[in-house]
Amino acid sequence: MHDSIQQLSAYLTALVPERPLELQEMEAYAKEHRFPIIGPAAGQFCLQIARMVGAQRIFELGSGYGYSTAWFARAVRENGGGTVFHVVWDEDLSQKARGHLRVLGYDDLIEYRVAEAVEALRETEGSFDLVFNDIDKEGYPDSWPVIAEKVRPGGVVITDNMFFGGTVFDRGNREETTEGVREFTRLVSGDPDWISLIVPIRDGLMVSFKR
Ligand SMILES: C[S@@+](CC[C@H](N)C(=O)[O-])C[C@H]1O[C@@H](n2cnc3c(N)ncnc32)[C@H](O)[C@@H]1O
Repeated sequence: MHDSIQQLSAYLTALVPERPLELQEMEAYAKEHRFPIIGPAAGQFCLQIARMVGAQRIFELGSGYGYSTAWFARAVRENGGGTVFHVVWDEDLSQKARGHLRVLGYDDLIEYRVAEAVEALRETEGSFDLVFNDIDKEGYPDSWPVIAEKVRPGGVVITDNMFFGGTVFDRGNREETTEGVREFTRLVSGDPDWISLIVPIRDGLMVSFKR
C-alpha cells in the first residue's frame, strides 16, 4: 500500500472507539492469517450507516467468521432489535462465527445460512433495510439484480472491495475478479433507482441508497 494511504488508514482506525476483547481477537486473527475482514474503520462506518437508516433487517452476502456481522448486529441491537443474516458457503467459518457472536452476546439476532449467498438472498422472504455485499468478486455483477429487488425504498446496500487492491485502476488488468468489480460499479452507478458513491475507506466501500 502507498505510504499516504497507509497513514490515512491508520489515522481512521485510531479514531474508532475501543472494541470488545472478542472483536479485537477477531482483528488479530485476521492479521495473523491474512483473512480479509472489513476492519475497524469500515466496521464503524457500517455501524453508522445501519444506525442512520434504522436497520432492523440486514442481509450479509459473504460473512466470513462473523466480524462484519458483529458490527451489523450491534447496529440492529441499538436500533431496537431484529435480524442479521450471516451467510457463507464455508461450514467451518459459519461454526466459527457462531462461537464469536455468542461470546459477543448477539446470538439472538443472527440467522445462519451455509449456502451460496445470492441464491440464499433470492430464497429469503421479505425485504431488507440493508444488504452488505462481500462475496467473490466475479459474482458481483449477477448479485446486483437480486440485491436491488430485495432492498426496501430508503434502504441501503454497502459493497466492499470496490478498488480491489487498486487493480481496478490498472487498465491492463483483465482478471475476472477485477472485471467483476468494474462491471458491478458500472451497473450500480448507472442505475437510476439508486444514489451511489464509493467511499475510500480501506479497499473502497460503495454505499447505494434506494430512492
Ligand atoms: C471477504 S470474506 C468475508 C469477510 C467478512 N465480510 C468480514 O468482513 O468479516 C468472504 C467470505 O465469503 C465466502 N464467499 C465468497 N463468495 C461467496 C458466495 N457467493 N456465497 C457464499 N459465500 C461466499 C468466502 O469463502 C469467504 O469466506
